[in-house]
Parts: sequence; C-alpha cells; structure tokens
Amino acid sequence: MSEFELRAITPGETYELRRALLRPHQRVHEMTWAGDDAPDTLHIGGFREDRLVGIGTAHRQPMPGLSEPQAWRIRGVAVDHGHRGYGLGEMLLRRLLEHAAASGGRLVWANATAASYGFFEHYGFARRGDPFELPEVGPHYVVYAGL
Ligand SMILES: CC(C)(COP(=O)(O)OP(=O)(O)OC[C@H]1O[C@@H](n2cnc3c(N)ncnc32)[C@H](O)[C@@H]1OP(=O)(O)O)[C@@H](O)C(=O)NCCC(=O)NCCS
Repeated sequence: MSEFELRAITPGETYELRRALLRPHQRVHEMTWAGDDAPDTLHIGGFREDRLVGIGTAHRQPMPGLSEPQAWRIRGVAVDHGHRGYGLGEMLLRRLLEHAAASGGRLVWANATAASYGFFEHYGFARRGDPFELPEVGPHYVVYAGL
C-alpha cells in the first residue's frame, strides 16, 4: 500500500506549497489563480501521515493556439522536496488526468518548467513550440496530451 493518501482539498490549502515550491518570489495572497474556484475544478492533495506534502490542480481552460473546446489545464503539480521520487507526483498527475477525462476532457495541457517537462513527457505529453519565459519563474514549455 502507498504511504501517500490523496484527498480533494480547497484552493486555500494549496497556497502554502504553491508559494514554497513554485512561486517563492511571491506572497501567499498572490497564490489565487484563474479557474481555482470553478465548480468543476479539482485540487488534489497528497498527504503523508496527515501532512500535506504534494498538490495539483486541474481546471477547464483552452490551450493557447488550439480550438479544442474540451481542454483541461494541469497546474501547480508539486511535491515537497523530501518526498520526491516516491511516486506521489505520478499519483497526483494520474488523479488529475482521471478527473479531466471523467469531466469530458479530450485534451490536457500544462506550462511545464524546463526542469519538469521531462516528468510530463514520461506520461506521454509532447512539447509544443519554443520555450517561453515566465517573469521570475524561468523558461517554460507548453506540453499537451490527448485523453
Ligand atoms: C515534477 C514533480 C512533481 C515530480 O514529483 P515526484 O513525486 O518526484 O515524481 P514521482 O516520484 O511520482 O516520479 C514519477 C516518474 O516520473 C519521473 N520523473 C520525475 N520527475 C522527472 C523529471 N523532472 N524529468 C523526467 N522524469 C521525471 C520519475 O523518474 C518517475 O519515473 P519512474 O516511475 O519510471 O521511476 C516534482 O519533482 C516537483 O514537485 N518538482 C518541482 C515543481 C514542478 O516543477 N512542478 C511542475 C509544475 S509545471
């Protein structure tokens, strides 16, 4: 049995890890993202011994440059440093993909950091276009996959 447990969490519960792991230059109150409060958005938390150590979000959003109406964005997937490499990232991503598919999604996409696109590629995502720079976050690729 996995040592991690997945549970749906509120947008607010993602903020601390979003800031610590993805946006260290921003403040906690800036961690609210578009789509966070949509009724069909899923925020998933990965818990180890009841402590939140991983997060991820899936919400409806068209992929830039594509007209597929049933597109879902995977956002803010992150695992706390000491807990990486034990399968939680995969558990979070799979649950988010399941949610998007069960909600009628046909396509999933993400803005992946240069350090993490390999993670998405591992699960069948492809890169699209040239890398682009997010101010103070660094280079990103758009990655996408069919559902
Ligand atoms: C990317 C991240 C979520 C992976 O979490 P994790 O819990 O370490 O991932 P897992 O242990 O479930 O790894 C699953 C598989 O992906 C692979 N993988 C993980 N990170 C990878 C990377 N950066 N590049 C290539 N492969 C990677 C692992 O080798 C593993 O493969 P295996 O099953 O064949 O051994 C984590 O490293 C992280 O939080 N990174 C910083 C935040 C980030 O950049 N998030 C992405 C936002 S766009």
